[in-house]
Amino acid sequence: MDSRVSARALSSALGGWRTREPAYEALADGIRLLCLDNRLAPQTALPAERELASALRVSRSTVAAAYRSLRDSEHIASLRGSGSVTLPLRRRDPGRTHPSEGMIDLQQASPPAWPGLAGIMTEVAASSAALVARVGYDVLGRRELRAAIAARYAARGIPTDEDEVLVTTGAQSAIHLLASVLVGPGDRVLVETPTYPHAADALRRAGARLVGVPVTVDAGWDLERAEQAFARTLPLVAYLMPDFQNPTGRTMSDEERRVIQRAAGQAGSILVLDETTADLDIDRGHVSPGFDGGDPAGVVRIGSLGKTVWGGLRVGWIRGHADLIRRLVAARPAHDLGTPEFEQAVASALFAQFPEIVAQRSHLLRTGRDSVVSALRHALPQWGIPTPRGGVSLWIELDAPLSSPLVMDVRSRGLLLSAGPRFSVAGGHDRHLRIPFTSPPDELDRAVTMLAESWGRVRDGAPVTVVEQFDSVV
Ligand SMILES: Cc1ncc(COP(=O)(O)O)c(C=O)c1O
Repeated sequence: MDSRVSARALSSALGGWRTREPAYEALADGIRLLCLDNRLAPQTALPAERELASALRVSRSTVAAAYRSLRDSEHIASLRGSGSVTLPLRRRDPGRTHPSEGMIDLQQASPPAWPGLAGIMTEVAASSAALVARVGYDVLGRRELRAAIAARYAARGIPTDEDEVLVTTGAQSAIHLLASVLVGPGDRVLVETPTYPHAADALRRAGARLVGVPVTVDAGWDLERAEQAFARTLPLVAYLMPDFQNPTGRTMSDEERRVIQRAAGQAGSILVLDETTADLDIDRGHVSPGFDGGDPAGVVRIGSLGKTVWGGLRVGWIRGHADLIRRLVAARPAHDLGTPEFEQAVASALFAQFPEIVAQRSHLLRTGRDSVVSALRHALPQWGIPTPRGGVSLWIELDAPLSSPLVMDVRSRGLLLSAGPRFSVAGGHDRHLRIPFTSPPDELDRAVTMLAESWGRVRDGAPVTVVEQFDSVV
């Protein structure tokens, strides 16, 4: 058995699970969703019935019935002497990985590739003979690419040297590397809630104890809570997304940046700013670089071409003090020997066309945003539908805390979404749903129709059926 989940942790991950009658089926559905979301990995030992019953304040027979239902649907197995263990997800079609054909996958917010990318790849491929004569990968990154990245920061008013840049295999690997170098077991790390789930997972795996600071679509960052959290918990690191935060789409005001930087400075916290979505501006216009512009040693920035150009181009980077870059280079080979040179050469060529790329993205995202906002406002007027000024998704407020049952219901009809609690730090967000607007408009239209049909049923507490898929939220 790989791991076990405590009754307390399971109860917190389940959040507001009691969404329909009978209670045992609602509980079983809640646990199924955690399995589908990969928040309960296969081979995880579930708490004993008595412990879970006491954590959830329900009778032991309710938990026993929920476990029975989970055994019947083959989500768990009960082993003599070892209690109940989650099972690997069954595949409806074993020959195919996710998602199955015909399904609409809105778990990922991945815009299609920038149209000029294939041409640039072809040009780079023409110099393959020279490329393959080299080692082919390196832990720091090609000098010309680091120079291009540094020049972009300089253009934003953040003077940067090449030796303050490390090229990674996407922003996720940057987050993982920073977590493994900066964070140790038991260290506090401040994060937004809701946040980007794979960052929270990487930080937790490094042993971090996460401290959540709320961000809302309407009011932005809760500065009072942020100041208190910095002062009381003295987090070692704060991981934040100041521009088009994933999932809310909010951008920090100058005032929010000032307050957060001052509180972090007083607490001695390192600010890790994930700017993966920062170039995805639809109609915000210019924004100041924030965080002093001058960028003191306590600010580390993460960037990526994953959303601006294409998720398949695994090129990201870290901008930080040269000493930190050296520590990261020393630690990196344990999990990753470097970024492939072909991708790096493509990335270097892309930087020459950045203004054009960003303009095309803005147009694409505006079309997606406007069409899904108007379809949702028409079909589900009772929901709170924001109009984010950039980014990749809508963070919707439902008129009832039924995000998880809704996601389960639409899943059975071929629409994959991530429920609000997937983005939370310590439970909650059952009233929220993230809808990316990066997919083609016809898919988004079909998705809205399915959501509207399902919502009525879920609101009435109708039972739901389950189709299994692995979850990955980007
Ligand atoms: C905020 C944020 N950080 C990091 C990532 C991971 O990006 P990459 O594809 O470059 O690894 C994503 C992807 O969705 C993201 O939204």
